[in-house]
Formats: sequence, structure tokens, C-alpha cells
Amino acid sequence: MSFEKEVKERVNAIGQNEKLKSCAHNFLEASLQPQYSYNFSWLGRPIIQYPQDMIAIQEIIWEIKPDLIIETGIAHGGSLIFSAAMLELVAACTGSEGEVLGIDIDIRPHNRKAIEEHPMYKRISMLEGSSIAQEIVAQVVEKAKGKKRVLVCLDSNHTHDHVLAELEAYAALTTVGSYCVVFDTVVEDMPKELAGNRPWGPGNNPKTAVFEYLKTHPEFEIDRDIQNKILITVAPDGYLKRVR
Ligand SMILES: C[S@@+](CC[C@H](N)C(=O)[O-])C[C@H]1O[C@@H](n2cnc3c(N)ncnc32)[C@H](O)[C@@H]1O
Repeated sequence: MSFEKEVKERVNAIGQNEKLKSCAHNFLEASLQPQYSYNFSWLGRPIIQYPQDMIAIQEIIWEIKPDLIIETGIAHGGSLIFSAAMLELVAACTGSEGEVLGIDIDIRPHNRKAIEEHPMYKRISMLEGSSIAQEIVAQVVEKAKGKKRVLVCLDSNHTHDHVLAELEAYAALTTVGSYCVVFDTVVEDMPKELAGNRPWGPGNNPKTAVFEYLKTHPEFEIDRDIQNKILITVAPDGYLKRVR
């Protein structure tokens, strides 16, 4: 049996392993309040992610070799630097060139400076404004024109309405075979108290937006192999693969 087939069978088995899935759920629940995901960095920039999701994105970037990665939600820039660094490796290994476009409503001056001074900035551009503002969407659509392999990552405001609007604006830019990754769908599966005073929570979050969007967009399917593989993820049911 090929190694890939063995991996697939193991991942399928893990997807049915309720004990292991429950351990992962408990870990996620216990780790959210202590802000576990706020303690990592990538090439020196703080990245607000769980390491397992970073591995999943690395696998996607290597598989797709995007010529454009669109990311909403920049914060300190860690995820932009991560994506740009992966594209740098893809380029070094295969010659396939790619760039990253980040959007944030508030790019703090110290974060902008650190991102612009980073060696990976050569693959990055940034737009400041709401990801669902018409003028921002228009610039992103323009940037995506003619691109052949586009990956989209949504990680900004996590309310239902905002994420649904982002999906309507950007998911269609995802090329067939690539992904639109919607972060923080996990909010739906966690106790209400963990959302604190944020405007999102169970019933109003990225996962509810994903389910609403998928009702009218059969060109996307949830890739559950990814969540079954990494188990610990803030994006359960959020790895959307464009299948047609
Ligand atoms: C979770 S952080 C992004 C983390 C980043 N992707 C990472 O992995 O390190 C969310 C970011 O979304 C931004 N944001 C909030 N509302 C937004 C909006 N309407 N449009 C664009 N960005 C927004 C915030 O300013 C914040 O920097």
C-alpha cells in the first residue's frame, strides 16, 4: 500500500475515534481562555494561530502553489509572513512564484513597520480598510485578475454577517482545487462564556456563516480530512475546498 493511502486510512480512522476527538475538543476548550494561540511567532512575527492549523496551511500551500494568497485579518503580521515564507520556499524549490495580499481595518504603525522591514515583505502587499468595504473588495478582485491558483484565508471580524459578506466577496476568487479557509469556526462548538464580550459567539460566528454560504454554493465542499488529521483546529468545517 502506498504511504499516501496509509495516511488516508489512518486519518479516516482518527475521524471516527471519538475518544481522541473528545481529547482534542477538551484541549481546545481548555486552551482558549489562557490564550494559547497568542504565544507563537513565525520568522519573528507574532502569529495568532494554533500550530496544527499552520501545518495544514503549509500542506495546502505546497499542494496548490498559489500565485496569490488573499488574507483578511493581519494583526501583527505573523500569518502574512508565514504565507510569504512558504511561497518563498515554493519558489526556491519549484520556481513557481506567488504573492500575499493582506487586508486589515487597522494596521497599527508598529506592526506595519515590522512587516515592511521583514525580508519576506518582498512577497507581501497590504490594504487598510474593512474587508467588506466596496473599495477594498474592488482592489482585491483587481489583484486576483489573471491569477491561476488563488488561496483565500478569512480571519478578521468573526461575526456571522461579516464572514458571510467576506465569503460573498472573496470565496469566488478561490480557484478550482484550491481552498477558502475560514478561521474561528470553532466558536460555534465552544461555551458562550469563552467568547467574552466579543460580538460573536455560539449561533453567530464563522461556522454559521459557512453553513449559510454553502446552502447556495455547491462549488465548495468542506474538506473534513484536514480537521480529522490535525484534530486541534480553530477552523473545524472551515477548510472549504473549491471542487468546481
Ligand atoms: C485574529 S486577528 C488576525 C490574526 C492573523 N491572521 C494571524 O494569524 O496572526 C483579527 C484581525 O482582524 C482585523 N479586523 C477586524 N475587523 C475587520 C474588518 N472589518 N476588516 C478587516 N479586518 C478586520 C483586526 O484588526 C485584527 O487585526
